[in-house]
Amino acid sequence: MPHPLSAHLPMAIGTAVARCGETDVTVVMPTSESDVVDVYSAMGRPDEDPHWADVWHGDVALATAMLEGGGGGGGGGGDAGSTIDVRGRSVINLGAGLGLAGVAAALAGASRVLMTDREPRALWCSLAAARANGLRGAAETLPASCGAPDGVALGPTPKALEPASPAASRCVVDAEIVDWFEPELAPTGFDVVLASDVLYTADAVDAIATLVLRLFSSRGGRAGRFVLADPPGRFPENHARFVRCMEDPGSIPGYAGEALITGASIERVDERIVECVNLVGETMAVKLSTYDITVPSRRARDGSASILSSRA
Ligand SMILES: C[S@@+](CC[C@H](N)C(=O)[O-])C[C@H]1O[C@@H](n2cnc3c(N)ncnc32)[C@H](O)[C@@H]1O
Repeated sequence: MPHPLSAHLPMAIGTAVARCGETDVTVVMPTSESDVVDVYSAMGRPDEDPHWADVWHGDVALATAMLEGGGGGGGGGGDAGSTIDVRGRSVINLGAGLGLAGVAAALAGASRVLMTDREPRALWCSLAAARANGLRGAAETLPASCGAPDGVALGPTPKALEPASPAASRCVVDAEIVDWFEPELAPTGFDVVLASDVLYTADAVDAIATLVLRLFSSRGGRAGRFVLADPPGRFPENHARFVRCMEDPGSIPGYAGEALITGASIERVDERIVECVNLVGETMAVKLSTYDITVPSRRARDGSASILSSRA
């Protein structure tokens, strides 16, 4: 049953422009974060996380790196040797929030982008942003699996936001609920995994490390690329813990002792600190860490498991 208050709780939506190097990317967002808090409070969930309703420094850093460094179909371009070159790749964006990084990946030439978050309202804004940036391959409505939060029907994203000229990119952009704490439900098989500003709770660190490994587990032993954008000064303990997980995948509790972790290799291929500016002009340093992750194919894992068991 729809929450009786939901019809009386407007969450006004507007647009803003994120400057990503030389490229302006339109985002679609609640006009006031306090509206979001009010909606959650009225639904009896005052502790709900409203962080999806803003553009964080990590997304600006990631978007800029893809558009400026990866060569792009959306006005970016440049160094084709960038480690964040997503051209022709399938990309999943974890904790996408308003979807700036996912939209930038699509504009930079990715073949497919899946925006994921646990909050359907965030995914709605992500898809609306994709359309607002002229991406013709963007889904117009959330898939039914996203559900309507508490009976609030989100409806199709507004066509009125579409620019007069479409983007050059034909990237297919979809959205799906993915909760970091339910890695077994996440779709797999992507070439690139993006995550920015997601390490803000201690328990998310191990969950995301686990999820990222699982996301690369169905690539038949081929390496996938993981890019994390994180301001190292924001939650330094969480950041340090995540780095340890990447250096020693065996220390990730979610997979300790499981066959999957055996033989998984994580190689850091790039790390750089960039300064970036958010929508309200605040500057912050963000660390962009790029890893190549290889999880042995199931056949190889089963093979090594049976060798081990026949020796035992
Ligand atoms: C700080 S915001 C960052 C959003 C975006 N990546 C950015 O940098 O602008 C964190 C995002 O993670 C999402 N999130 C938090 N916990 C989550 C979980 N357990 N599963 C999936 N998404 C989650 C939030 O809804 C929010 O959109």
